Amino acid sequence: MWLSGGRMASVGRQSFGSCFRVLGRRGCNTAAVMPEAAGFEGVSDRSDLQDFSVCSSDSFWAAVARQRLSWIRPFHTVQDCDLSQGRIRWFEGGKLNVSVNCLDRHVHTCPERVAVIWERDEPKSEVKLSYRQLLEMTCRLGNLLRRRGVKKGDCVTIYMPPCPLAVASMLACARIGAAHNVVFAGFSADALAERIRDAQSSTVITVNQGVRGGKVIELKKTVDAAIQSCPTVQQVFVAMRTENPVVMTAKDVAMEEEMAKEDTVCEPAGMDSEDTLFLLYTSGSTGKPKGLVHTQAGYLLYAALTHRYVFSYHDGDVFSCVADIGWITGHSYSVYGPLANGGTTVLFESTPIYPDPGRYWEMVQRLKINQFYGAPTAIRLLLKYGDKWVHKYDRSTLKTLGSVGEPINTEAWEWYHRVVGQGRCPVVDTWWQTETGGICIAPRPADPDAEIVPGMAMRPFFGIKPVLMDTEVYGSSFVTSNDTSGALCIAQPWPGMARTIHNDPQRFTETYCQPYPGYFFTGDGAYRSKEGYYQITGRLDDVINVSGHRIGTAEIEDVLNQCSAVAESAVIGFSHSIKGQGIYAFVVLKKSIDVQEADVTRQINDMASKKIAKYACPDYIQFAQRLPKTRSGKIMRRVLRKVVDSELEGLGDLSTLDDPEVVQEIIQGHHDLL
Ligand code: WT7
Repeated sequence: MWLSGGRMASVGRQSFGSCFRVLGRRGCNTAAVMPEAAGFEGVSDRSDLQDFSVCSSDSFWAAVARQRLSWIRPFHTVQDCDLSQGRIRWFEGGKLNVSVNCLDRHVHTCPERVAVIWERDEPKSEVKLSYRQLLEMTCRLGNLLRRRGVKKGDCVTIYMPPCPLAVASMLACARIGAAHNVVFAGFSADALAERIRDAQSSTVITVNQGVRGGKVIELKKTVDAAIQSCPTVQQVFVAMRTENPVVMTAKDVAMEEEMAKEDTVCEPAGMDSEDTLFLLYTSGSTGKPKGLVHTQAGYLLYAALTHRYVFSYHDGDVFSCVADIGWITGHSYSVYGPLANGGTTVLFESTPIYPDPGRYWEMVQRLKINQFYGAPTAIRLLLKYGDKWVHKYDRSTLKTLGSVGEPINTEAWEWYHRVVGQGRCPVVDTWWQTETGGICIAPRPADPDAEIVPGMAMRPFFGIKPVLMDTEVYGSSFVTSNDTSGALCIAQPWPGMARTIHNDPQRFTETYCQPYPGYFFTGDGAYRSKEGYYQITGRLDDVINVSGHRIGTAEIEDVLNQCSAVAESAVIGFSHSIKGQGIYAFVVLKKSIDVQEADVTRQINDMASKKIAKYACPDYIQFAQRLPKTRSGKIMRRVLRKVVDSELEGLGDLSTLDDPEVVQEIIQGHHDLL
């Protein structure tokens, strides 16, 4: 198999680009850890390897790209990037097909290996698909999409829960050169419509109904409602997740029926490295969600490499990332990373507590899972149910436990390590974002035995150079000392990073490249310990993280302000024992309208679920007469945050407030509410 034994795969050897300096073949003991490193000159240990990947980034990525990916035509330029201009290009001149990399080459070597285990909502009803079967499914769908007019360069919106057909849909797009835009199936019709419109999709793929936690979710109906306001949509493919028929309109296509008529061979499109692979919408601090653009080669390479080294994934392991495929975590670690590595990936359709809080661990036992990757919010929830749910099941197959999406507090980390992992499995707290494409900071990229400090993301991945900037001064140079905090930036490009924002390249440069010119600004703050380890301290902007769902406070305010009785509002995040952060809304009602607060509360919750998703509903709504504002009319969020966090001593400088008395009103209102 191409991954094993430190030998280069035959598929990788064919592709030597002209810029590559063939390095000495002097062996180094890192080759055992990272076979791709065998030829790196002057690299004799793991720390050399990390330095090499950053300082000789072109040589590092060129060698890895040749060995890891299967190319139709070799690239001639490793990278052509200028972060200050927002120009990011990797492996130009190269041609490849992502679906071939994820499927065909494994079908050649091990057709019957399990590619996907679909862990359906009903426990003990899992479905396994071999690489051969997944390729056939993908090809039929690719042919169907082609026959129905989907072309290279189109963007197909996928609104499905995690299931093999969703994976096949993503890969079928990749096969024929279309981009995909997966929208989390928990999003409302309005949120879906906004994303379909921005992506200008003419094709949508969905299922008749979803099933989660024993409940049926009317996904097709949501699509029907969404496309009312999407003039571009011409066809909707509907797969059958349940047996219940749904009303089919002239635009709807019965997906499985049509797929059955198609051939199981589908000619893969030869794609340029920098052609778009997918758009994925995520929230920013202002304005509407942004469609981040990820491209073919660099993204796939980075997803594959991080999957292998962060989790110490080995051939034959069963890998399970329980995130939804609608998030970047699902893209990179349920689909692209594991499949590019010829791995076995579990697609989880259910919830951590269905039918009971032992669900994850019963699944680990039944499917013999080796790597388990989940979110702190679920760990905190399960911890509250006690150890007995974990002890009930055999977890001896587990080797690595991963955490992602938000900071993991020490209590949750310890429980995950001690109770779930029996103290024997390393817990890897992985930091990254939709924008970074894959994991950037994690405990052990190069060293399976390295020390891990609870609650710290620890060390940069290969090719990543994190820097901390002074948060007081934009554009300043980075701080070099340890035991210090700052704005987390990445000092040089890496292949997995997003290339731009769909329809809004300007916003991309402004958000990520201009705050600290020449650096990629992540929006997060971080602390670097005396030892040089990184710990993420949280967002520096108005983005909050509710149960691992990223959302802009401005997006919620936008919805609140659309309620007829609301004059203005301010939304902030507060620390929540299970969700990580909760939503606290300050609402000022219009004076002219006579309404009951209870009615407004109901309306706000309806609107938030209708316009965004259920998780966008505020945990608390504090009705106020007015909000604290500066003389120039800006809401002083800092004051609101301090009040909600009960840090009244630290209110800071209030001299710019228009009317300092407002603060007392706000404090009083907060007390009354709790
Ligand atoms: C934001 C990105 C990364 C995939 C899932 C979320 C926060 C992510 C961690 C971590 C502390 C984390 C950051 C980041 N975050 N991982 N290990 N420790 N915070 O992707 O929706 O794009 O959200 O999630 O604030 O910026 P996303």
